Amino acid sequence: MSRIWRKEKSLIYALHPETIPASGVRFTYTFGLGGITIFAALVTLLTGLALTFYYVPTPEGAHDSIVLINDVVSFGAMMRGLHYWAAQLMVLAATLHLARVVFTGGYRPPRELNWLIGLGLLVVTLLWDFTGYVLRWDDGAYWALLVGTNLVREIPFWGEALYRALVGDAQIGASALLRFYGWHIFGLTVAGVFGMVYHLWRLKKDGGISRPVLEHAQVREFVSKDELFFREFIAAALVSAALILLTVLIQIPIGPAATLDAIADVRAPWIFLWVQNPLRDLPPLWAGILAPLGVLVALALIPFLDRRGPGRAIWFARERWKPQVLLAALALGIIVLSLREVLR
Ligand code: HEM
Repeated sequence: MSRIWRKEKSLIYALHPETIPASGVRFTYTFGLGGITIFAALVTLLTGLALTFYYVPTPEGAHDSIVLINDVVSFGAMMRGLHYWAAQLMVLAATLHLARVVFTGGYRPPRELNWLIGLGLLVVTLLWDFTGYVLRWDDGAYWALLVGTNLVREIPFWGEALYRALVGDAQIGASALLRFYGWHIFGLTVAGVFGMVYHLWRLKKDGGISRPVLEHAQVREFVSKDELFFREFIAAALVSAALILLTVLIQIPIGPAATLDAIADVRAPWIFLWVQNPLRDLPPLWAGILAPLGVLVALALIPFLDRRGPGRAIWFARERWKPQVLLAALALGIIVLSLREVLR
């Protein structure tokens, strides 16, 4: 057994940098957020695989199959719960990881490309969450799909063609559900897995995690791969315990089955409340397309706003105030709009 483990651990170790300076993997520097995101993605993938054996991607069967998974299938509620909570954790951990990278200056040369790959991963993660929410096929999911796809129609020139490609028909129905199912379990999964491997490989190529000493200075203290793996194992065990606890304590909601005629005014999934709120007062093209695109472009520009070269990677360095203020302002705007929608 130990011989097999010794051979196979090289697969896990291959994704880690060759030398690991202790200062870069200090808990209070990264808070393990990138690793927690990877672990949450793994749990989502495994439990998602289990759910595909019972989920029926048709308008008549989708809602009932989820109720069946929840109430009848052995360990069904556990699989569904773990899948849901791991997916929410993935969004949260990836977002906090982005903030950690900004506030420690981890995006600076040579890591600009990895910043952009990470941003792509965040978009994939949000779409993964949204397409999964749609698969419930309850009134909330149907409404979110209706609003989301109608927003696509607002895009000048290509809107109508994009809408047709997404929905597959003149209006939402069986083709749309099948397409969203395909994106959820295949298209976005391939993009996510490929993106994560590329992100880690790039991290290794860029010399590992940035660290709070000058990049060219002699590094004296290293952590072995065994030690790092042990820390990752402990973190994975703690996160697993938290996910199981959440699954046991909090029942995931599912509304009444979607009907074409009775569309209620439902709240968007929490990740898009900040988009939903301004949509109530502003033109859809501005509130639903241009504003989120603006946030994405602003984030993409962060490494190019700060051209101070490698320097010291420490929390809240004064000389890197511009990206920090930009991120704080964006985060504040997103939180205020989300709260406004919840308290409406
Ligand atoms: C699915 C989402 C993501 C996964 C699984 C992931 C994973 C990781 C891991 C494991 C690390 C090593 C250090 C750490 O834990 O902080 C890392 C570093 C890094 N990530 Fe991510 N990440 C994701 C999303 C993002 C996002 C959204 C961004 C920013 C837009 C980003 C930018 C970076 C950069 C620049 C580094 C190098 C930081 C440094 O050297 O200090 N990542 N990522």
